[in-house]
Amino acid sequence: MILEGKTALITGASRGIGAALAVGLAKHGANTVITDLDRQSDELAKVAAQVGETEQKCLALPLDVTNKSVVESVVGEATDAFGQIDILVNNAGILLPKPLEELDEKTWDAHFDVNAKGVLLCTNAVLPQMRQRKSGRIINIASIAGRQGVPTQGHYAATKATAITLTRVYSQEVGMDGITVNAICPGIILTEMGKNNLGSQENIDHWTNVAALKRLGDPDDIVGPAVFFASDLSNFVTGQALNVCGGIYFH
Ligand SMILES: NC(=O)c1ccc[n+]([C@@H]2O[C@H](COP(=O)([O-])OP(=O)(O)OC[C@H]3O[C@@H](n4cnc5c(N)ncnc54)[C@H](O)[C@@H]3O)[C@@H](O)[C@H]2O)c1
Repeated sequence: MILEGKTALITGASRGIGAALAVGLAKHGANTVITDLDRQSDELAKVAAQVGETEQKCLALPLDVTNKSVVESVVGEATDAFGQIDILVNNAGILLPKPLEELDEKTWDAHFDVNAKGVLLCTNAVLPQMRQRKSGRIINIASIAGRQGVPTQGHYAATKATAITLTRVYSQEVGMDGITVNAICPGIILTEMGKNNLGSQENIDHWTNVAALKRLGDPDDIVGPAVFFASDLSNFVTGQALNVCGGIYFH
């Protein structure tokens, strides 16, 4: 119960990696505030029920990470409910693959709004209380795409490179107040997003074969690294981006 007494707020938590992190952090002792878009409220309620099977408390709230006033009011409501937010996991993200030459501005903007501005808004909303307490943990779910873009994901990769850069800069701007900021760069994880992205069985087989561990990722594979960054185990680690990819990318 390494996270006992801590409260974690997780964005995009109704499915995939976010849902696994909600249940995983709760299993390690954290109370959780699980959030996602309003349209995901049924799925979010199912995740809340799963978290409820642990000993920990869970509050499910609608949150669009692109909306500053909603972000601030959800952080306020969560803080009122649990007293404080110790851990923020910026997990919400979108990926609509398109070659750069065919990309329209709306799709470009949507990716930057969720994957980059969302990190900024949510982080800025929790930092004042973390600075006051002189402790806090920010974990950004970036991507190996942020280290090396691949065709049809140029815009997505650019947002994830931004998330890694924000991780590095925030860590230096808030470290003096005992707050760490780290990123996890998942490889190919078999979520809705991961499966859509891979498209065909041929692609799944290809990447399975490329991976050193000869398998693709499961959302639960992200839990251990997140618990590490959320806990005292990583007290002297900040501004880092950790690839969690089964060995498909090495830089
Ligand atoms: N699956 C992968 O292979 C993979 C690889 C690398 C990184 N990632 C990253 O991991 C994170 C989770 O991805 P996933 O695979 O679980 O995807 P997913 O599509 O299953 O889940 C993403 C969640 O984000 C939510 N979301 C989208 N827009 C939002 C907004 N404006 N406000 C709040 N929530 C919003 C969605 O409703 C959804 O629940 C994302 O940031 C993604 O980029 C995933």
